[in-house]
Amino acid sequence: MQGQLQTGSSIAAPAFLGRAIDRFGAVPMPNLAWTPEVERATAHLYEKVKAIIPPVEWPFHAPYVKAINDLKRERNAVILAHNYQTPEIYNCVADVVGDSRQLAKLAASSDADIIVQGGVHFMAETSKLLNPDKTVLIPDSKAGCSLAESITGADVRLLRQRYPGVPVVAYVNTSADVKAEVDICCTSSNALKVVESFGAERVIFLPDQYLAQNVAAQTKVKIIAWHGACEVHERFTAEEIRRYRADDPSIEIIAHPECPPDVVAECDFTGSTAAMIDYVKTRKPKRVLMVTECSMADNVAAETKGTEFVRPCNLCPHMKRITLPKILDSLVYLRDEVTIDPLLAERARRSVQRMIDLG
Ligand code: 13P
Ligand code: SF4
Repeated sequence: MQGQLQTGSSIAAPAFLGRAIDRFGAVPMPNLAWTPEVERATAHLYEKVKAIIPPVEWPFHAPYVKAINDLKRERNAVILAHNYQTPEIYNCVADVVGDSRQLAKLAASSDADIIVQGGVHFMAETSKLLNPDKTVLIPDSKAGCSLAESITGADVRLLRQRYPGVPVVAYVNTSADVKAEVDICCTSSNALKVVESFGAERVIFLPDQYLAQNVAAQTKVKIIAWHGACEVHERFTAEEIRRYRADDPSIEIIAHPECPPDVVAECDFTGSTAAMIDYVKTRKPKRVLMVTECSMADNVAAETKGTEFVRPCNLCPHMKRITLPKILDSLVYLRDEVTIDPLLAERARRSVQRMIDLG
């Protein structure tokens, strides 16, 4: 259910249920024992993940799942989870799941008091930009991104000096500091549309060199790229993809556009994480290779019958910093809170909002 509310949960949870607590102060850590009550309360959620989480592991997850879902209601909090989050987060505690664009859009329409970001820091910053008056929490503020770390606001100012008058597009995988310096943001699902929206001959596109090259292959606009790369997608090679194809010529191979262009050229389809999920759900291939972060195949496998997933397991170490225990801590102690200097936020928000307004 990409970019949608998850079944059985609500983005606008009832204002206050359960114990008498101060919604904006710390609450006692819930009991985390595996009890018959926990088993009963989480049985419907285990149904969703039983194909990928063995029964022996569920008693470790279930007490956290119940505690997080209870606390979300008490705090009027919502959890936004990226498609790369682990199955127990994606399927059992997330209210909203999706790719970066869908999460940004849904963050903008949330009426919860607290947003907990199941994802990396730039995603939490984007949620904060769109919800300046809300409490936005990231369960581990060290959850970074090799792309976001490859460029600073000062770098963008230098690029502008070097290429005066050339519009600047930033992938959302950037810090608020960078977003404040650019004309507009984009995600993997709308990069081409955003680049062409200026009607300009040249556009600076940062920071992902491979996404830049993949977009350049589809447009007449001359792209000036930065040298950043996603440490997960740059590890895939064309040779590796050819080997999978040679082993089984009937396999369908789909890739994220952060992969190098020679990898993309070997694949049957390229799209954002949400577009890749839609591809599998609509085409129902017999065997599919998802050339992307490997938790996503687990999440799609939990929702799809009749497709065999072949996957080289490249994990994003930053996405994997987010765990159920850290999400619970986040809700109990209201940490780590994302804050952005209001003047910087005002400028950064404009770039994100322009992207959203483009549709
Ligand atoms: P999507 O916007 O396609 O979900 O990609 C985000 C990301 O970080 C991929 O590595
Ligand atoms: Fe960043 Fe790559 Fe991880 Fe996505 S998968 S968050 S682009 S490092």
